[in-house]
Amino acid sequence: MTALPTVDCTVYPYECDAFGHLNEAAFLAVFERARWESLARGPGMDVFRRSGVWPAVRKATIDYRAGAYPGDVLRVETLVTHRGTTSFTLKQAATRVRDSALISEAELVFVCIDSIGRATPIPEEIARLLGPRTGGAGSRAGAGDLLRIEAGGAELAVEIRGEGLPVLFVHGFPFDRSMWKHQLATLAHYKRIAPDLRGAGASTAPDDGYSMSRYADDLVAVLEAAGVERAVVCGLSMGGYVTFELLRRHPRRVQALILCDTKAEADSPQARRERDELAALAQSAGAAAVAERLLPALLAPATHTAQPEVVQQVREMIERTSVAGIVGALHAMRDRPDSTALLPQIRVPTLVLGGADDAIASPAVMQAMAAAIPGSHFATIPSAGHLAPLEQPLAVSRRLTDFLSTLA
Ligand code: MLT
Repeated sequence: MTALPTVDCTVYPYECDAFGHLNEAAFLAVFERARWESLARGPGMDVFRRSGVWPAVRKATIDYRAGAYPGDVLRVETLVTHRGTTSFTLKQAATRVRDSALISEAELVFVCIDSIGRATPIPEEIARLLGPRTGGAGSRAGAGDLLRIEAGGAELAVEIRGEGLPVLFVHGFPFDRSMWKHQLATLAHYKRIAPDLRGAGASTAPDDGYSMSRYADDLVAVLEAAGVERAVVCGLSMGGYVTFELLRRHPRRVQALILCDTKAEADSPQARRERDELAALAQSAGAAAVAERLLPALLAPATHTAQPEVVQQVREMIERTSVAGIVGALHAMRDRPDSTALLPQIRVPTLVLGGADDAIASPAVMQAMAAAIPGSHFATIPSAGHLAPLEQPLAVSRRLTDFLSTLA
């Protein structure tokens, strides 16, 4: 736990009530005064303002142990008991200097907010002041921080967990970040960043404006919000199409590539017609009809027979996708450029990974794609279809860890 500078505060008469002791509300002011003073003695009182953020108190709890009186000098110690991505918790204790009596203890949970009140990652300089990230009080068990960020007219939900080499997980269609839930939980030595693309999961769904370039620019906004310059980008299927676009538009953002169950070719004329048919089905019959249509080909035969809970999870994920998001993604995929010419130009470490029973991006197609990317690695996951990360999570996580450990 990091300790901020200890500060002595004198109790002033105007802070005391009719009974002559420090008023209960004034205790909070004393603790606040000590926090400001410790900033003044350390990085400066303007440390938050110059980083463009503000610490908003979300919760304050206080214990009153004994009375304090005008002229008493209270020694206030401040400890950082938790530091997350956007939040931190301080524990403060006030003891009277003359007799070492514990007078009061308080715990305050802060969230870093930007100028319009949105939770925002703790900036580098303040993170250094607060000390290393913890899993202690104030963190949600097992879960990461969920940010909501603004990007091109949409609000995107972004889950961020852990510290280390950043890995950006980009989901496929019509899914959301929960398709990576096993990898988000288990790749403990990496900073896992998983957005819901616009129109999916907990992100908002604008009526129009969906395109591969828009999705790719959204990913840049996600990296910015996570305080990350470059990341290993791991895209599945449509997430792979978006990743190709990210490589074209923002190549310096990509440190390494993991292409899962995806392909580089654009849609054939027949596939384009099928996109329009599926969009019409979504509009007339809703997401449940889309789930019914897609489910048979999405998962391996072994998953359909032996893992009904995975089938149900995928169904629910599709059913909660908005119709606007489904239609927007279908149009974006229909109109996406062909990325085959990009493959030989890829110069970052690349892993191509797919389900051995993927009926949408077949192993043969993925192997050919890997062969066109200089120095890439190719692997298949047995008994997995198009959603290998959910169907065979351990095998996928092991492959990812093996690859990521070569990058450190
Ligand atoms: C996906 O999983 O993202 C889709 O299968 C992609 C596609 O339909 O081309």
